[in-house]
Amino acid sequence: MEYRTLGRTDWQVSTVSFGAWAIGGTWGAVKDDESLAALHRALDRGVNFFDTADVYGDGSSERLIARLRRERKDPFYVATKAGRRLPKQTVEGYSRENLTAFVERSLKNLDVETIDLLQLHCPPTDLYYHPEAFGILDDLVKAGKLRFYGVSVERVEEALKAIEFPGVQSVQIVYNAFRQRPAEQFFPLAKQNQVGILARVPLASGLLTGKLRRDSRFPPDDHRNFNRHGQEFDVGETFSGVDYATGIEAVEEIRGFVPPALTMSQFALRWILMFDAITCAIPGGKRPEQVADNCGASDVPALSDNAMAEVRRVYDRKIRPIVHQHW
Ligand SMILES: NC(=O)c1ccc[n+]([C@@H]2O[C@H](COP(=O)([O-])OP(=O)(O)OC[C@H]3O[C@@H](n4cnc5c(N)ncnc54)[C@H](OP(=O)(O)O)[C@@H]3O)[C@@H](O)[C@H]2O)c1
Repeated sequence: MEYRTLGRTDWQVSTVSFGAWAIGGTWGAVKDDESLAALHRALDRGVNFFDTADVYGDGSSERLIARLRRERKDPFYVATKAGRRLPKQTVEGYSRENLTAFVERSLKNLDVETIDLLQLHCPPTDLYYHPEAFGILDDLVKAGKLRFYGVSVERVEEALKAIEFPGVQSVQIVYNAFRQRPAEQFFPLAKQNQVGILARVPLASGLLTGKLRRDSRFPPDDHRNFNRHGQEFDVGETFSGVDYATGIEAVEEIRGFVPPALTMSQFALRWILMFDAITCAIPGGKRPEQVADNCGASDVPALSDNAMAEVRRVYDRKIRPIVHQHW
């Protein structure tokens, strides 16, 4: 496993880390035993950073990570998120009272005295024009409730605004072969400001694993079934906002130039790690075998210039017109 420094923290974070949304729910049925086995396998493979949120399974994802901590001595970092428990996304919702209550609840779920990294969970764009919200987070750091804080954003413009605040250590953003705009303006600035970048939805919700087919079906409680058109939350979180049929076509083109030694998931993750502004990718893992497969991406050699150019060509032709200017 390769490690990179996260922002201005002195943390060395595994380049393939763990996204803990699916083990909380919204991705079809999951069993706690299997989820826990996936978390254990991650630690076995050198993962030392877990991304969760207070709303994943209404806290069950955080509680599974707390169980992992009780069962293992290995040190690891946990990033959680706050803000999505609000009934409506408004600037006023991100008040001292609400943020403090969300943090207290996560501290309890995670069974710790201090949260390693708290991320605002895709707050409304206007919040970035309210420095007082970031002042509240500074106070929570001073009070010992948070070690560090960052943000999770939907759009590049929010990321650019977020890193104006000196306390922001990390930005979580959708980044993968189907979502390339963040690399243009945001990556160089994040690097300059020493802000860490967590690449979320790195497998485009499973599309980039190459296992999905045109006629694949998803259970009713899986967002790949019920959020394809953004019915419940931002459509960009489901298949990266790429319509399913186009995504499948693009994946079939990419399949042709994946080196034989790599699985498609490893290729997709290694593609992300080719960008040195990225701290880590946080693929969602539901089962130990998936985690092992994904971790393999950290140790493989750099992709060839040709492979990078081919991905770019597929993106420019098929994907760019439908996603580039949306996020
Ligand atoms: N707003 C936010 O802040 C936000 C939004 C989205 C995600 N996130 C974070 O980012 C993380 C990653 O994004 P994501 O989970 O949405 O999407 P993702 O990582 O692109 O896709 C994860 C899904 O792909 C499948 N998979 C993973 N590894 C695989 C492998 N090696 N082979 C085959 N299938 C594999 C699994 O589902 P199946 O087995 O069911 O196919 C898994 O749930 C989340 O877990 C969460 O921590 C944050």
